[in-house]
Amino acid sequence: MVDYHIRVNPHNVIATINPNIYGHFAEHLGACIYDGIWVGEDSSIPNTRGIRNDVIDAMKKIAPPVIRWPGGCFADDYHWQDGIGPRESRPKRVNIWWGDILEDNHFGTHEFIDFCRMIGAAPYIVGNLGSGTPGEMRNWVEYCNLRDGSALAKERAANGSIDPFAVEYWGVGNENWGCGGNFDPEDYAAAYRQFAIYMREFGGTKPFLIACGPSDNDIEWTLRFFEKFYRTDRRPELHGYGAHYYARERGYTRKYDSPFTGMATHYNEDQWYYQLHCGLGMESLIVQQRAAMDSFDPHRQIGLIVDEWGTWHPITEGHHPSELWQQNTLRDGLVAAMTLDIFNRHADKIIMANIAQTINVLQAVILTDGDKMITTPTYHVYDMYQAHQGGASLHTQIKTDTIPVEIEGKRGNVPVLSGSASLKGNVITVSIVNSHVSDAIDVPIDLVTVSPKSASLTVLTGETIQAHNDFDQPDVVCPHMLSMEIPNKGFTVTLEPASVNVLQIKI
Ligand code: AHR
Repeated sequence: MVDYHIRVNPHNVIATINPNIYGHFAEHLGACIYDGIWVGEDSSIPNTRGIRNDVIDAMKKIAPPVIRWPGGCFADDYHWQDGIGPRESRPKRVNIWWGDILEDNHFGTHEFIDFCRMIGAAPYIVGNLGSGTPGEMRNWVEYCNLRDGSALAKERAANGSIDPFAVEYWGVGNENWGCGGNFDPEDYAAAYRQFAIYMREFGGTKPFLIACGPSDNDIEWTLRFFEKFYRTDRRPELHGYGAHYYARERGYTRKYDSPFTGMATHYNEDQWYYQLHCGLGMESLIVQQRAAMDSFDPHRQIGLIVDEWGTWHPITEGHHPSELWQQNTLRDGLVAAMTLDIFNRHADKIIMANIAQTINVLQAVILTDGDKMITTPTYHVYDMYQAHQGGASLHTQIKTDTIPVEIEGKRGNVPVLSGSASLKGNVITVSIVNSHVSDAIDVPIDLVTVSPKSASLTVLTGETIQAHNDFDQPDVVCPHMLSMEIPNKGFTVTLEPASVNVLQIKI
């Protein structure tokens, strides 16, 4: 039996936690954009210029720093000119990646920027490298960012926005090793150089250019991409490098069940731990990808990004496989919390992350059904972890037991306790996950030399490990806050089983 212990050192700072680590991602896929965000101005669902009011309010509450759009795989088959101008004359196109449904392009660049402004998030636009041209991508930048004078700036003004959109973050393709054109790393590096050289500063907004990184922790992609990229001095700017990581056992996302992780809402205790184990793979990705990047970019001028991540469960019965719709349980909430803790602990290595996807798709923070909307356990984790955004990440030692799990010969290890800490002003925020399915854990919190004045504890847990919110019972899993007695500089908290906990300590 281990003596659990958490020691946070307020004098030992890792780095500032970039708020963009708490970013989101919305793709033209399933009901993420249409029904999830966009209902149209004539809808009976209350909306502002076509965007759902309930979603605007819920998103604002979790302070989203950045949102990535329009894909995903959709991005490399999207032509931005289809999504501007009068809506009734926008062309209908087939969404070849997500069920061949007809895309009416009613949600385009102007609507996306309007949504970003309403929720207070910076836009991150992914350009089309796979089936588009360098000119098309470059024109999108000018259309968005040049204040006046050119035909494209005038076109934007005629379409309703005299003010430029000042879009800073630009993805130069998405998953170009797969749906974004099936490139090998050298060919993508050459294509990146070709496209990015035309993506210029317009209207005082310098574009922050993000290249496509690996699938999972594919080191070979990274080494070969950078080797080719750095082979010549004639190279364009490159500011960010975006890896994708989904917590899943590969091969089961096109099936209805998985022996390893079970289904979205049906899983046993072993599958609970196995799913958490899959999520923990994020840590080696960050450490190893950053190390591979460091061998080319030792001063870390190119930032590591994880611009798609989240749980990806087997297909949900009753939903089309291409919708990627899944329920979100307490287990997803723990994966979110453990992943955000990894990001916080590696604040010196990662500058942005975008959970996939905001609404109705994969690890959604919000689910909608007609005029109904609910928030998920993952949403509540984002709400609870807000306090970390922009904080100084603190060195934290956690003494814990680990739980071994083995299914069909595949093994994992999950720490009972994991977490992170940060300091902002005179408040230390400590987030701690207790992954144990049945044991409450008493854990002393040691702040080294610092004396706490007061503390509160916010807890997210459920009656069962499968607990989740649905449209009939939207508040089954929601946080509750407890204020705490602080006897002296150290104190002990009791962490409920299967729980996410955020301590806020005034010093
Ligand atoms: O998020 C769903 C899909 O997952 C994205 O479109 C793609 O980039 C990734 O494979």
